[in-house]
Amino acid sequence: MRRPLIVGNWKMYKTPAEAAAFVTQLREVTAAVQDVEIVVAPSFPALLPVRDLLAGSAIGLAAQNMHWEPEGAFTGEVAPPMLTDAGCRYVILGHSERRQYFGENDAFVNRKVRAALEHGLIPIVCVGESLAEREAGLTEKVVTSQVEQCLAGLAGDAVANLVIAYEPVWAIGTGRTASPADAQEVNARIRELVRDLFGADAADRVRILYGGSVKPDNTRELISRPDIDGALVGGASLQVESFTGIIRACEEAGKR
Ligand code: 13P
Repeated sequence: MRRPLIVGNWKMYKTPAEAAAFVTQLREVTAAVQDVEIVVAPSFPALLPVRDLLAGSAIGLAAQNMHWEPEGAFTGEVAPPMLTDAGCRYVILGHSERRQYFGENDAFVNRKVRAALEHGLIPIVCVGESLAEREAGLTEKVVTSQVEQCLAGLAGDAVANLVIAYEPVWAIGTGRTASPADAQEVNARIRELVRDLFGADAADRVRILYGGSVKPDNTRELISRPDIDGALVGGASLQVESFTGIIRACEEAGKR
């Protein structure tokens, strides 16, 4: 079965010192958690101190972005081997904020996904429709096209091991969550698409998260749905109490 996954995306919050204080506490309070995989995604400068503080714990480390080249004259960018060296197991790719503010498109994301896999990083590939697209009834079309393009050219066993995060743009940081039924419907559609494109094994194994205003009090209902394998959490991952509330709610949902 798919192991539930909770990822805290800290975006452009927390200095290295703040990140260090957070994970020191998180490590303590989640020491007994077994049935949920926990991952944090700090800013680049916080990766190294967080890696060191998490050594020997089950909490994983993710980066929030990456370039596709292994090195080169790309001022301001960070390469895949730098992330593996900094202890990352995961990398978030194609987040809607990258698409909205930094011009990333599906072709970029596809290059990054391939590069991540080549370097042994697990991509967390973000997809999701805007409010205008949802209101125009285009959710399925938009998400289908994003998944097809972001995963183009991959082998089924690569897709089986990666993570897809469905994050409707209108639910991010707004307090508006997709209803569990709506989120389940889109996640199920994504899994069906993965089945069509990459086969049954990939569809059964790929983890598909939901993200967008996930909080301790809405986690259980979301994660109890059959095709929601965890959450990508922004705002509520910034305090230890709310982040652990989400992790506990996920444990209580009792999925393995
Ligand atoms: P919020 O949880 O703050 O809505 O952010 C979601 C998100 O963008 C996670 O990647």
